[in-house]
Parts: sequence; C-alpha cells; structure tokens
Amino acid sequence: MENLNKNIESHYLKEGLYEDIVYRLKEQDIDLNEVKRSDIAGADEFHVRGAAVSKELAESIHLEGETVLDVGCGLGGPCRMLADEYNCQVTGIDLSNEYVRTAKELSKLVKLDSKTSFIQGDAISLPFDDNTFDVVWTQHVQMNIPSKEKLYSEISRVLKTGGHFLYYEILKKEDGEVNYPMPWASKSDMSFLFKETDMGAYLRQFGLTKKQSNDQTQAGIDFFNALFAKLKEFGSPKMGLNVLMGETTKPKLMNLLGHLKSGELELKSGVYKK
Ligand SMILES: C[S@@+](CC[C@H](N)C(=O)[O-])C[C@H]1O[C@@H](n2cnc3c(N)ncnc32)[C@H](O)[C@@H]1O
Repeated sequence: MENLNKNIESHYLKEGLYEDIVYRLKEQDIDLNEVKRSDIAGADEFHVRGAAVSKELAESIHLEGETVLDVGCGLGGPCRMLADEYNCQVTGIDLSNEYVRTAKELSKLVKLDSKTSFIQGDAISLPFDDNTFDVVWTQHVQMNIPSKEKLYSEISRVLKTGGHFLYYEILKKEDGEVNYPMPWASKSDMSFLFKETDMGAYLRQFGLTKKQSNDQTQAGIDFFNALFAKLKEFGSPKMGLNVLMGETTKPKLMNLLGHLKSGELELKSGVYKK
C-alpha cells in the first residue's frame, strides 16, 4: 500500500505548483491582492466539467452552514466554493503533500483560509472521530483506491447520522480493456475502476441509503468536445488542467473521452443519506 500511495503521489506531483499558478496569474495582470475564485477555477477543480459540476452537486441538498469533509480534495477548489457560496466549514484531505500545500496557499490567496483547512492523509484511514461531518463529498478519487470497502466504511464512519454523502465519479460501465494514461493513472497498476452497482452495495452495507443518482456521461462528452474544439482554436489556456498535467493533458483526456464514448466508462453523481 505504501508503494502504491507513493506511486500515486508521484503520478500527480507537479513541483512548485502554487508558484506556477501565481506566475500564471501575474502573466494575466491579475492583482495578487484581488484574486477571485474564478481566476483559479480552471486549475483547482480537477474533474470533468470543473466548477460547473461541483455547483450542481452542491445544489442537490441543503448545504448552508454545514460541516463538510472533501475526501481526495486535490487543490481544494470545491472546498472553497462550498465555504464561499454556502458558508460551510470545509476540511479537505488528500494524499499529495504538494496538493495540500497548494490548497492551503490558494485558500489564503482568495481569503478563504478561515473557512477551509487541508490535511495530508489517506482516505482509507481518516484521522477523524466517528460522526464528525454533516456532509462527506468526493469527486474523481476512488479510482486510485483498491480497497473500496475501507474507503466507504471510513466515509460512513465519519459521517453524522442523518448526514449526506455526495459523490461525482468515473465508474466502469462495461468490462473491457482501458487505455492509459488517464488523468488519475499513468498505467493500469494505479487504477482500480469498479461499477456503480458495487459502490451502491458497499454504501448500503455501511448504512447509507441512496437518494439520487445522475448520469453525467453525455454532459462529460459534450464538455470534452467543446474543450478540444477550443484547444484547437486557441491552444492551451493560461489556467486549465494543463497546469496540473502539462504535456500529458491531451492524451489523458483523449483516452478518457474515448472510453466515455465507447461505453466502457461512465460519469455518475449522486447523493446518499446515513
Ligand atoms: C483527479 S484528482 C481530484 C481532486 C479533487 N477531488 C477535485 O475534484 O478537484 C484525484 C485526487 O485524489 C487524491 N487521492 C488519490 N488516492 C488517495 C487516497 N488514498 N487518499 C487521499 N487522497 C487520494 C489524489 O492525490 C488527487 O488529488
């Protein structure tokens, strides 16, 4: 497990990430004292459809003032959105030290550091007491985690009774070969895709009840088609997922789009209640 986590951390590693984001803001003549969340949203929401889908997910329950845990929070864009727009107190946990450092600095930059906190840690061993959070939130993370049982039992454990689990996931729809690299894995040995029915079975086992499930696959395909058309016309954006994935952005996103189109993979979001 330790080796796997090291490989996953190095898959995502981009040294000097925060400094690169600041450099890109300066290049666009953005005053560092006046940085808005929207100035960094292209890079700090690391999932298909970025800020738009996070906002949709947030609208699926009443979130105002809730305490939220974002499991595998990345750079913390969704955490800041929940803190800023819904007055939530948000904790993000992520395996990557560099992402956690960057998440903390970005929260200071947009003046949301009093409502967001970030810690380095593993989703299968959450350092929180039972029944701590009103909401547990996760987007595009479980594909890196082989023990789904541990992941979902931990999520259920830290969630308060009556609390909500909100997810947005890349899942396996049909059996078949998957081509790599993908945004979450350079090679197949760090990718653990599974099906929605299996996720549902674990969540039920740990006392959660399904309230909603939405197929996001076509919306994801449309998003990628528009994105590739834009890339062709204008080249890489100043603040996009290329900040995180560099030269490998296009092949990774093309592989994901290919499998969404051909039906081996699907995008699903939803809500469970404990
Ligand atoms: C594709 S990114 C998504 C980041 C964030 N959820 C978002 O949507 O912007 C996947 C994230 O999961 C994190 N991750 C992978 N395995 C993890 C684990 N076992 N525990 C905590 N975080 C993990 C990675 O470090 C990475 O930041």
